[in-house]
Amino acid sequence: MKNKKLIGVVIALVMLVVVGYFFNNQPQTETSGNKTTTTVKVGVLQYVTHDSLDEIYKGIKAGLKEGGYEEEVNLDIDFMNAEGDQSQVQTMSKKLVANGNQLLIGIATPAAQGLANASSDLPIIMGAVTDPVGANLLTDLEKPGGNITGVSDQTPVADAIELIQTITPAAKTIGLLYSSNEDNSKAQVAEFKTAAEAAGYTVLDYAVPSSNEIAATVEVASSKVDVLFTPVDNTIASAFSTVVGVANKTKTPIYTSVEEMVETGGIASVTINQYDLGLATGKMAANILNGANPATTPVEIFNQGSVVVNKKVAEQLGLTIPESVLEEASRIIE
Ligand code: TRP
Repeated sequence: MKNKKLIGVVIALVMLVVVGYFFNNQPQTETSGNKTTTTVKVGVLQYVTHDSLDEIYKGIKAGLKEGGYEEEVNLDIDFMNAEGDQSQVQTMSKKLVANGNQLLIGIATPAAQGLANASSDLPIIMGAVTDPVGANLLTDLEKPGGNITGVSDQTPVADAIELIQTITPAAKTIGLLYSSNEDNSKAQVAEFKTAAEAAGYTVLDYAVPSSNEIAATVEVASSKVDVLFTPVDNTIASAFSTVVGVANKTKTPIYTSVEEMVETGGIASVTINQYDLGLATGKMAANILNGANPATTPVEIFNQGSVVVNKKVAEQLGLTIPESVLEEASRIIE
């Protein structure tokens, strides 16, 4: 009796080891019947954590799936997040290349730049890069010509200025809050300045060298300007609750470029849907995995926005959002 029990235990253990071994050594290509599934490896580098980039990553996975690539079926995603650290961007970019990924996706400009430095032959898809040319990623949006293409998010600046005029007609001075290290912000800031000055505003520049300076900079800015505007800037986005906390002390409204920052306390924005940006990025990546050439795949540009307003924030600031804006808004946060 005792021996039989022991033999049973030994057999069970041997089976466990054999099954374990088998599962660990699954080949990349599986054949079942006459169907062959090959798993592709895709590396994703996200620059930093903030709600908009997280939303883009969700869209990317959905876009890949729509294009025929799904995790746990035929897709392995090697995901890394540099958490805003430039040296991590470099290290992780190299790792993603060394790990044998077949295609790389960079979420936000600094991530795409890191990947571009790490490989000049693997296909690289830009996930929401505002100014690919200014960021030195390519020279022609229509004909990228190399290993890099992707999706570009370009805030409709004129609409943003109109929104500021309608909601806060008494405002004369706009403070521009952005990071001095992000190539994506430079082009938007220049465009915004020209258009706002043409509309009669005085525009003051508040460029922060790092997230450590945000609170102090906003403190100064909000004592000098009537309203603040922030472009799609990763440094500001990832510390946006700090910005809101400081600007609220002087009841200075903050106009943002994305919905996620209106949710966190901005007053209003003309926003490009972040999930849609990711979806387009994922679909483009799938096309390239299916054989399309990045060199001849034009960059997809998103430059149409919809109005999102935060009624609760407006009330706290003692402002009333005009009926015309509420009617036009695609979303009202109450
Ligand atoms: N477009 C930004 C870049 O080029 C990335 C980005 C996408 C972003 N959505 C955002 C930044 C929202 C701030 C807020 O890096």
